[in-house]
Amino acid sequence: MHTHQAVIGTQWGDEGKGKVVDYLAAQHDVIIRYQGGPNAGHTVVLGKKKFPLHLLPSGILYPAKTCVIGDGVIVNPVTLVSELERIVDQTKHRARLLLSLRAQVIMPWHEIRDGIAGGVVGTTKKGIGPTYTDAVSREGIRVYEVLDKKGFQKKLIQQLKWNTLLIQALVKYHELTQTEIKKLKLKSQLDPKIIVETYFQAFKRLETLGVEFCDTSAVLNQVTKKNQTCLFEGAQATLLDITYGDYPFVTSSHPTIGGIYIGTGIRPVNLEAIGVVKAYATRVGNGPFATELDNGIGEKLRQAGQEFGTTTGRPRRCGWLDLVIINYAKRINGLNALAITKLDILSGFETIRVAVAYQIDSEITQEYPISLTQKQEAVPLYRELEGWTEDISQAKKYSELPKAAQTYIEFIESQTGLPVTLIGVGPERNQLIVK
Ligand code: IMP
Repeated sequence: MHTHQAVIGTQWGDEGKGKVVDYLAAQHDVIIRYQGGPNAGHTVVLGKKKFPLHLLPSGILYPAKTCVIGDGVIVNPVTLVSELERIVDQTKHRARLLLSLRAQVIMPWHEIRDGIAGGVVGTTKKGIGPTYTDAVSREGIRVYEVLDKKGFQKKLIQQLKWNTLLIQALVKYHELTQTEIKKLKLKSQLDPKIIVETYFQAFKRLETLGVEFCDTSAVLNQVTKKNQTCLFEGAQATLLDITYGDYPFVTSSHPTIGGIYIGTGIRPVNLEAIGVVKAYATRVGNGPFATELDNGIGEKLRQAGQEFGTTTGRPRRCGWLDLVIINYAKRINGLNALAITKLDILSGFETIRVAVAYQIDSEITQEYPISLTQKQEAVPLYRELEGWTEDISQAKKYSELPKAAQTYIEFIESQTGLPVTLIGVGPERNQLIVK
C-alpha cells in the first residue's frame, strides 16, 4: 500500500517545513494545506530565486503535481492573488491548484479586529483569530458564498453592521489614540461596495490564474482510492495548536495531526508523520520559552540563522533545542520520524546545550506541563554536547558530517526514540542529507 505523509512542526513554527515539504513533494501526487491561513511563512529556495509562500502549499513549484488548499484553511483571496501572480511571474512551472469551496474567507474586519486585539498574543495580524472565531460562532463567510455575488452582498451588509459596532467597542476598550484609529482606515476598509468588488474580482482573478474552486474533500477521497499519495503540509506547529499548544499564546487552528482529518474531510489509512525539528529553538510572538537565550548566544543564533519572521519581519526569540517539547510533539502527533533542519547554523559553537528535562519547583519532569505558570517557571535541565567548527553546508552524506554533529543527531534519536531521516544543512533544495 502507498504511504501518505504528513509534515508537522514540533516546536513553535518556522522549523523549515517548507524545505522538507518541497523535498518530499517530489514523491507524492497531491500536496495539501489543511489548516491556518496566510499567517504561515514558508520559503522555498530554487537556484537564485527565493519563493516566500504564505497560503500556497510548498508543492506549488512542481508542474506535474496537484496542490490543495483544504476545507480547514482560511483564505484571504486578495493576498492569495498577489502570491500566485508572483509565482506565475517568476516561473512557468507550477502545480494545478484546487481551493476548497468550504474554506472560510478572511474579511477586512477580521484583519482590523486582529490588528486591534492581537497584541497580547503577538499575532501576525492577518485576521486569523477573528476568522476562526466567526467560523465557530457560525458568522463566517465561506468561499462558495463569495462566488454568489448577490448573496454575498446581502450577507456582507448584515455582517458589517455588527462588526462596525464591535470594532468601535474594541477601539474604546483598547484605548486607541486618534492616530492609531486613523491608521485603521475604517471608512474605506468597511465600505460594502469596495469590499464586494474587491473580493469578487479577486476570486475572478484566481479563476483566470487557473485556480479550481471545488469540493476538495471529494477529490481527495478519489485520490486515496487510486494508487496516488498525499503529502499533508502542516503550517505553524504543535506548540501553537489551539488545544495542545501554549494556550492562549497559540494560533486558532489545529496544526497537529488531528487537523488533517477535520481540515481535509478524509482519513488516509497509511499515514506517516514526520516531525520537523529545527536544530535549535525559535519563537515569534509572546508565550513561554524555557530554553530561550536572551543573551549573546541567542543573538548569534538569530544572526547566523537569519531568524526574522517571513510573514511579519519580526526578530525571532532564539534558544537551545528542547527535547521535552519534541517528545511531547511525538506523543501528540504519533510521529514516526524526524527531520532536523538548519544544522549548519550550529557550526562554530564551542559547546551546544540540549534540554532533556524540566525542574518545576522541586520536581524533575520530562512531561511538558499544561499550566502556563509551570511552563513559565520551568527551569530546563541541560546536557552539554561538544560543538564543531567545520562548515557543513556542502555535506551530501551523513558520513561527511563532523563526528560531533553526528553525535548531536544521534543524541536526539536516542532521547526521542525516533529515527532522523532528513538533515537540512542550508536553505537550497539540494542542501538536504537523507540519512
Ligand atoms: P496568529 O496565527 O496570527 O493568530 O498568531 C498567533 C501566534 O502564532 C503568534 O505567536 C504568532 O507569532 C504565531 N504564528 C502564527 N503563524 C506562525 C508561523 O507560521 N510561524 C511562527 N509563528 C507563527
